[in-house]
Amino acid sequence: MTLALDFTNMMAGALPNGAGISEAQWTQAAAPFAKAHAAVHARVADLGFLTLASNASLLAQSERIAADVAGHFDDVLLLGIGGSALGPIALRTALCPPRWNELTTAQRGGHPKLHVMDNVDPISISATLARLDLARTLVLVVSKSGGTVETMAQYLIVRETLATALGEERAKGHLVFVTDPAVGALRKIADAEGIRTCDIPPNVGGRFSVLSPVGVLPAALIGIDVRALLAGAADVTARAAQPDLAGNIPGAFAVMQWLADTAHGRSVQVLMPYADPLRDLALWFVQLWAESLGKVRADGTSVGPTPLPALGATDQHSQVQLFMEGPLDKTVTFIAVRGREHEGRIPARHADVAELGYLGGHTLGELIDIEHRATAGALAARGRFNSTLSIDAIDAWHLGALMQTFALATAYAGELYGVDAFNQPGVELGKQFAYALLGRAGSESAQAEWDTLPPPNPRWRL
Ligand code: PA5
Repeated sequence: MTLALDFTNMMAGALPNGAGISEAQWTQAAAPFAKAHAAVHARVADLGFLTLASNASLLAQSERIAADVAGHFDDVLLLGIGGSALGPIALRTALCPPRWNELTTAQRGGHPKLHVMDNVDPISISATLARLDLARTLVLVVSKSGGTVETMAQYLIVRETLATALGEERAKGHLVFVTDPAVGALRKIADAEGIRTCDIPPNVGGRFSVLSPVGVLPAALIGIDVRALLAGAADVTARAAQPDLAGNIPGAFAVMQWLADTAHGRSVQVLMPYADPLRDLALWFVQLWAESLGKVRADGTSVGPTPLPALGATDQHSQVQLFMEGPLDKTVTFIAVRGREHEGRIPARHADVAELGYLGGHTLGELIDIEHRATAGALAARGRFNSTLSIDAIDAWHLGALMQTFALATAYAGELYGVDAFNQPGVELGKQFAYALLGRAGSESAQAEWDTLPPPNPRWRL
C-alpha cells in the first residue's frame, strides 16, 4: 500500500529553456514550509480534520446506523451541497463497481443504491423522486450548518413527499440528519422530533468533512470498507507529522504548487487522474483547493490558484491541446494507478492494418499507463510543469490516503499563501442577496446593497 509523488517534471533540469522550479527555490521553501507545518499541526484542537481518521466514537455513530438499517432500504438519498455532497459522490464513484445505481440488489451485495441531490434544479429533483420507492428509501440530510438554503429546500420537498407517501410518523424513521452536534435548524428539528443523527464535529468544515459521517455514513451504507478508508488517512496524517519536506507528500505537493504559482505564474492547477473511478475525486479536489485558497489576504491582495479537473486519457482529445500549447500558466498533477498491466487484453485482430495491428497483445491497463507517461513526457518536453501521484490500487485505503493528502496540502497551502483555508467569506454576499430576494428576515442590509446595483438589461434580444 503506497502513495508516491514524482515531481521530476516540475523541476528545472527536466524542463527545457530554464523552465521549472530550481533546486535553490525548493531548498529555500523548506523554511516557509516548516512554519506552515508548525502552524497547521499546532492547531490540532481546532482543525478537526486532522483527527477524524482516529475518532473511534464518531466512526461508531456511522457504523451503528449502517448496522441498524441493513436490509431495510434499497435506496439511500443524500441531500446536501458543496462539502456535504462532493465527498460522498467521489467515494461512490471510486469505490463501488461502475454504474452502481444500475446494478441489481444481488450485484450490489444487498447494499442500497446511493443518489446524491446536490442542486436545486427542479428537473433533477423530480426525476430522482419519481424513480424512488420511498417505502424502501433512507434519506440522509447532510448539512454542517443545518441551514444551507439549497439543502433546506431539498429537505422540505423530500420530507413532505415522504410524509405524504408513508405518513408523518413512519417518515421520521426514514430520515437521518448529519449535522453539527449542538447548533443549527436540523439539530433542533432532530431533537424535537426524535430523528436519528450523526455528528459533524464543530471544528470540521464542510470541504474537510469527508472522513466524518458526511462521507463515512453513506460509504458504510453502500458497503465501502470505511475502516480501511480511515486507516489510509490516518497513515498519511501520521507520516505528515514530520516537517521534513522530503518525507511529507502533502507538504511537497503544497510547496510545489505554491512555488509554481507564485514564482513561475502557473496558477491554473489541473488534477488529471488516469482512471475513470477517480474522475469525481478531481471534482472534490477542485472545491477543496478553490474554496480554501482563493482569498483576499490581510494586506488586500487577492491570491489563489485555479484548480481544473481533467480525465486521462479522455482529455487527451480535449483539454490537453490547451495544456500543451496554451498559456504557460498551468501545472498538471496526474494520478496514476500502478499494476494494471494485465487488465483488459486487446485482441490481435487485423494484424495487417497498420492502425490496429500494433495494439494486439497489449492490454488496456498498459495502454492507459503508457498514455499517461507519454502525456507527462510530452508536457515536460514543451516546458509544461507536471507531476504524478501514484497509487497501488483504487481501494478504500488509497482513497483515504489521497483525500487526506489533499486536505493536509490545502491546510499547508493556506499558510504558504497567507490566507485562512478554513473560511469562505467570498460566498457570503451572494447568499445574503439570495436571502433578501427570498424575503428572509434580517436581510435588510443585503436588500439595500442589492437595490444599488443596476437592474438586468439584456441588450440583445432575438
Ligand atoms: O466547504 C464548505 O464549507 C462549503 O462548501 C459547505 O460544505 C457548503 O456550503 C454546505 O454547507 P453545509 O454543510 O453547512 O450545508
